[in-house]
Amino acid sequence: MKFFSFVLFQIIIFSLLIIESEQRRQKKGFLKETSVKEDVEKKGLLTKNIKHSTITKNAFFYYEETFRKKFTGETLGYVTPWNSNGYTYSLRHAGKFNYISPVWYTLSQKNSGVFFEGKENVNQTWLKSIRKQTNTVILPRFLISITSRNVELTKIRNTIIDECLNQNFQGIVLEIPLVTGPQISNEIIDFVIKLAEDFHQRKMILFLAVQVYPNLQENHYSSLKRLSSVVDRFSFMTYDYSDSINFGPISPTSWIQNFLYLLNKLEIPNQKILLGINFYGTNVNIANSKLDHLIGKDYIKLLQEKTPSQINWDSKSEEHFFEYSDKNEKHIVYYPSLLSLQKRIEISQVFKTGISIWEIGQALPYFFDLF
Ligand SMILES: *[C@@H]1O[C@H](CO)[C@@H](O)[C@H](O)[C@H]1NC(C)=O
Repeated sequence: MKFFSFVLFQIIIFSLLIIESEQRRQKKGFLKETSVKEDVEKKGLLTKNIKHSTITKNAFFYYEETFRKKFTGETLGYVTPWNSNGYTYSLRHAGKFNYISPVWYTLSQKNSGVFFEGKENVNQTWLKSIRKQTNTVILPRFLISITSRNVELTKIRNTIIDECLNQNFQGIVLEIPLVTGPQISNEIIDFVIKLAEDFHQRKMILFLAVQVYPNLQENHYSSLKRLSSVVDRFSFMTYDYSDSINFGPISPTSWIQNFLYLLNKLEIPNQKILLGINFYGTNVNIANSKLDHLIGKDYIKLLQEKTPSQINWDSKSEEHFFEYSDKNEKHIVYYPSLLSLQKRIEISQVFKTGISIWEIGQALPYFFDLF
């Protein structure tokens, strides 16, 4: 008897120690990412009224069916080398993604030559694992940063194709500033068209990442009409709506919808559209107009530190935000919530478009339950 009560005593002490260390860990914000039997919808977490403690308690639990794809359209997820969580999340949830785009390469113009950077970013361990696990198509992003008009576009094209053949890529996501906007250059559009044709000859695909400006003007996107016959998908960056001076929501739903109407008017087929969804937030210091980007883990830390009495639902933009003061300076924080993400998913479902997420390494683990 004595022995058993001693064992029992030890078990109780041991359990208390575990509970205490777990509480300490939670306080510090180092919650362990754990799979659970209920997804966020079943738990009733898609609501307007949400407390900071509900977010911090649940954010690190993800639904155990990690490969379940809920969203019926196409999904593209960006992964960046500077948030290596993206590698982990893309492997954990590979079944949810049709395409993953690692953000690895840059081509720029230096003096008279073409400068190719990013080979050192290629993560071979990850490439091997993801190719073994799924049919997810890996489309690395190439950022082409050119300024003057007499760049060697042929050299750029050959560099891209050589790298794709070397690494066995089935295509790329091309990002090229000025492909839309007030000063569209015909030279650049011709370049994209030629590149797409080269890709198709090799049975490869070409996606184009396109910036979307806060102020929507149809003539800024007229080049897309020409491009839509050759580009396989457009990944629209429907975020960064606000800045440090005009601070506010990151991606208002009314703006997204108006943009989709604009694309419809330009006769861009909906099945070629990937609607951009941000997994990052912004923290604006209103006193000095300073904007910091916020990733999931920083958001949780901030909630734990500031314990805001209210997290507000901005019904106009359909985003959650909260405010706090630090050294008498007011801050306003926008970060995606489960409900705000769900609203954007619903828009994509209505318009029958796909989605593209920037970027999955910034996520809170429970976001993936929605997709
Ligand atoms: C490469 O990917 C693996 C996952 O396969 C990840 O654990 C690792 O951190 C990545 N390496 C770098 C340098 O980001």
